[in-house]
Amino acid sequence: MIKIAIQRKGRLANSSKQFLASLGLSFSGEDKKLSEICENKQVNIIKIRDNDIPKYVSESIVDFGIVGLDVVKESGKKVKIKKKLDFCKCKMVIAVPATSSIKSIKDLEGKRIATSYPKILGEFLKKNLIKSKIVVVQGSVELAPYLQAADAVCDITETGRTLKEFNLIPIKTILKSQAVLIESPKADKARLQFFPKLSFN
Ligand code: PRP
Repeated sequence: MIKIAIQRKGRLANSSKQFLASLGLSFSGEDKKLSEICENKQVNIIKIRDNDIPKYVSESIVDFGIVGLDVVKESGKKVKIKKKLDFCKCKMVIAVPATSSIKSIKDLEGKRIATSYPKILGEFLKKNLIKSKIVVVQGSVELAPYLQAADAVCDITETGRTLKEFNLIPIKTILKSQAVLIESPKADKARLQFFPKLSFN
């Protein structure tokens, strides 16, 4: 039985289910079912929080995972990225209020940046020799400047709607992300045959 982990709820959940269905797997996709065995293949679809997917794949608890590249990088786990899947494309940006005096990344020195991605942001700041205070939040990051909890945000943007809603202007893209198929260290060629329509180069 092949185990494939996907996000239960959230940005990637529906697209991941559609992607697996497009490969010929038949399953209900109900998000209340945390574990589903496909009707037509020996495949077990596991639905979990996306932050847990890199860990489960890296420890070979599941064979494959579908997750955002941003989540893989933030996890710091060593997993093989088998294929970029070309959906759920987004960018991770640093953005500031339109009225802010912060115009470039150098102006972030000494400022507070809210994010759910402290590792990626921390590495970016270190590389650019900028010392800022990272304010870690679990979601709704764009609210932080409005609440005066931060001077800037570092978050993903897809349509740009949320940034616009809070009058935030991107000043730097630090990562381009999309959904990726990740593979456990124990997955072998035989297991990859469960993705018959994908070519792996
Ligand atoms: C993400 C991200 C932004 C928003 C960006 O949040 O954190 O808030 O989507 O998308 P947009 O550019 O299309 O507006 P998500 O909905 O995944 O939930 P979260 O706030 O809990 O992270």
